[in-house]
Amino acid sequence: MEEKLSSIAKTLKPSPIQQLSFLAERCNAVNLAEGFPDFPAPPLIKAAAVSAITSDFNQYRHVQGICDLLVDKMKQMHGLDVDPLTDIAICCGQTEAFAATMFAIINPGDEVILFDPSFETYATCISMAGGVPVYVALDPPYWTLDKVKLLDAFTAKTKALVLNSPHNPTGKVFNMGELEIIAECCRTKDCIAITDEVYEHIIYDNEPHISLASLPGMQNRTVITSSLSKTYSVTGWRVGWAIGPSCIASAIRNIHTKVTDSAPAPFQEAALTALRSPPEYYRSLRMEYESKRDFVFKLLCRMGFQVEFKPLGSFFIFATIPETCKLTDVEFVEQLIKEAGVVAVPGCGFFHTKHDYDNRYIRFAFCKDDATLTSAALKMRQLVDASGRLRFL
Ligand SMILES: Cc1ncc(COP(=O)(O)O)c(C=O)c1O
Repeated sequence: MEEKLSSIAKTLKPSPIQQLSFLAERCNAVNLAEGFPDFPAPPLIKAAAVSAITSDFNQYRHVQGICDLLVDKMKQMHGLDVDPLTDIAICCGQTEAFAATMFAIINPGDEVILFDPSFETYATCISMAGGVPVYVALDPPYWTLDKVKLLDAFTAKTKALVLNSPHNPTGKVFNMGELEIIAECCRTKDCIAITDEVYEHIIYDNEPHISLASLPGMQNRTVITSSLSKTYSVTGWRVGWAIGPSCIASAIRNIHTKVTDSAPAPFQEAALTALRSPPEYYRSLRMEYESKRDFVFKLLCRMGFQVEFKPLGSFFIFATIPETCKLTDVEFVEQLIKEAGVVAVPGCGFFHTKHDYDNRYIRFAFCKDDATLTSAALKMRQLVDASGRLRFL
């Protein structure tokens, strides 16, 4: 029967991360792997969802009010003028918004530039749409963008570039200089930019979140994708959006309608409450995550991890395995599960090109309750011997 599978389906294999998840479950490990919160979502937003269900918002639905609120948000955050009737598609999370964008713009053989390391789902969506991912390596330890490498990646087939900032897995926030380089390349090479801004409100050290779309000449060639998932701790609600030039937004809406029809109606209703959250909500979200980041950062440094780059955004720390440790990232995580009862993600799944460092990173997610982080810290400290070195070096 396997021969009946499509060629793209045959390329999709369970990742080593999934196997580690099974091991972690068997060992009842504290989970610092999964990129979603283990603490409750804000009560007001949950109440809005419950009320939407009891008020019978339970059928296919497009909630235009979300678009109106996104228009205000784009104006306030980025100074962008967006038409709520033509420029927005509400989708099932950023994931569907991104996939639908690929189906909206990619023809077979079109190339799409991605930065390496990157979030895993982009490449699959690009391939499913018939496109070809082309990688530009960011340079460790600060994951710096090299303009020459970026320019080299463009060919006559380049259709689009994907920018995820704040960045999963590194926590990098692309600075204005880097955004200007990317914008210049997009303009001169007539390239569409797709931004993934799901961590737009999870950003530290007073770093601003700048959307690539706000740079000169970029709004008319950028599709912004984002969602409720991370900002409001509701990754299971599946409400996201794409905001872009009207013809692309319209194509995305058509694709979305054919594939899923609508995002979940009660959660779209609750999105109205979420998107009206006061500035204080976003301020305390940042502060809480910043203190979690500092806690895990200190823990990892004390354990001998090399964490040259302290994340400026998102809720991940991408730490280098201590130099003296000869284990690969996958072996290291196996040991972490077995010996400490803590699970994290081996970095290899985020690298798509060969580097001598691509099995040296571990991603720790700190979007967890303080009790979870404290319990992980207690367990991980047991791995350190009296001289302060990791026991399984
Ligand atoms: C960079 C990035 N983009 C998108 C997503 C998924 O977003 P959504 O839940 O809106 O589909 C994630 C989830 O981990 C992510 O890390």
